[in-house]
Amino acid sequence: MKGLVYRGANQYEVRDCVLPEIQSPTDAIVQMNHTSICGTDLHILKGDVPTVEPGRILGHEGVGAIVSLGSAVTDFFVGDNVLISCITSCGTCAACRKGMNSHCATGGWVLGNVIDGTQAEYVRIPHAINSLYKLPGNIDPAEMAGFSDAFPTGMECGTLNANVQPGKSVAIVGAGPVGLAAMLTSKLYSPYPIVVLDKEDKRLELAKKLGADKVINVDAFNAMEELDSIVDGKGFDSVMEAVGTPTSFDLCQKLVAPGGSLANIGVHGQKATLDLDHLWDHNISMFSSTSMTWTYIKQLHKVSKLGWSIQSLFRHFSGFSKRAASNQHYLRTVSWISSCTDIICERHTNVTTISRLSVLRYFEGLSSIPNGAQRGYLEGRNFFLIASVTRNYQRTKVYRCLFQVCQSCYNLCN
Ligand SMILES: NC(=O)c1ccc[n+]([C@@H]2O[C@H](COP(=O)([O-])OP(=O)(O)OC[C@H]3O[C@@H](n4cnc5c(N)ncnc54)[C@H](O)[C@@H]3O)[C@@H](O)[C@H]2O)c1
Ligand SMILES: [Zn+2]
Ligand SMILES: [Zn+2]
Repeated sequence: MKGLVYRGANQYEVRDCVLPEIQSPTDAIVQMNHTSICGTDLHILKGDVPTVEPGRILGHEGVGAIVSLGSAVTDFFVGDNVLISCITSCGTCAACRKGMNSHCATGGWVLGNVIDGTQAEYVRIPHAINSLYKLPGNIDPAEMAGFSDAFPTGMECGTLNANVQPGKSVAIVGAGPVGLAAMLTSKLYSPYPIVVLDKEDKRLELAKKLGADKVINVDAFNAMEELDSIVDGKGFDSVMEAVGTPTSFDLCQKLVAPGGSLANIGVHGQKATLDLDHLWDHNISMFSSTSMTWTYIKQLHKVSKLGWSIQSLFRHFSGFSKRAASNQHYLRTVSWISSCTDIICERHTNVTTISRLSVLRYFEGLSSIPNGAQRGYLEGRNFFLIASVTRNYQRTKVYRCLFQVCQSCYNLCN
């Protein structure tokens, strides 16, 4: 498969990479359909993030379809379209129980950082149960890439940390996807005015189109006077830093009003100075955090009602070649069937009554190729495959099932 590989500061290449494999029963392998580039990937490429070593496939955002599941992953099926969380988390360690998924003892921000990421044709997702979200059928999967990171980050690290309130003023420095997601989620709290700042007029035009009350280019000669005039020189109640440079952080500290909140979202590769000699008596609150990604589900089911055009946040779009993947995936599917010791289907006697019934119910009335089925070939036969999980409720034991559907009759057979 192809993957975008970091080769050291300012160097990267798209090259052939080894297909990921299930390494633990809690893993899932996802075939990527849409992935996106985060400002953090740009920081990595500048050499700002020392945990990323050369050879790493980048990326921690995107949506795809599950192609393989570890034996302990319940509630998902092969073929499910899923959103990948930028934060991988077990859901059970002390940090996860405190709601701090990004500090998970065996997870956190690992994708495209300390393990291979999503800017590839396939990716391994550890702790799949807690790190993947099944996409509702009524939502365009391409739109959802913004929910891997930009939206939960904009909301949690920006809007909520900056304590956005009705009728209070907001300034957001940086109009990339994260800054704009912070702006859109701020609007849920009816602040006024929302001022967005950037260096690029194109980004500012977009911010205006998406609902900013005022946009200002930080490089304009009168930017500070203009900002002062908006809030009568009193500063902004909520200020968010969504760039990740010492200059943009410095601007944020100048903008925050006494009693206000400053939320740092940006990833910083260089030291930024905190001006406590000016701020010590200003009663400000300051937050700096990574996203915990707990706001997904709420946002996911609301998004179609809010009418947000998530794709408009992203700047460039390009196709993703599947050519190389299909051949290798075909081979992979075959080896997967051959190595699976746990095949349960009609012809196998180790199927308990309950799980067998649910298998048959699953296939009742099936008249076309099931969604997400993979083509396979084994011992001279063609199959479409679906992997699934059923429960034997009597023994509350979880079974890992691999169903085989005949290519010609689409019936369960072997
Ligand atoms: N805390 C977290 O969990 C988390 C998660 C995701 C992203 N981030 C960080 O958030 C920041 C924004 O991410 P993004 O994906 O939107 O990045 P991006 O690179 O797409 O956007 C950054 C924007 O800032 C603008 N900009 C650059 N210098 C500026 C300056 N001096 N003043 C004003 N604007 C300036 C750019 O023109 C661009 O529009 C990055 O630092 C990223 O690493 C943090
Ligand atoms: Zn990110
Ligand atoms: Zn955990």
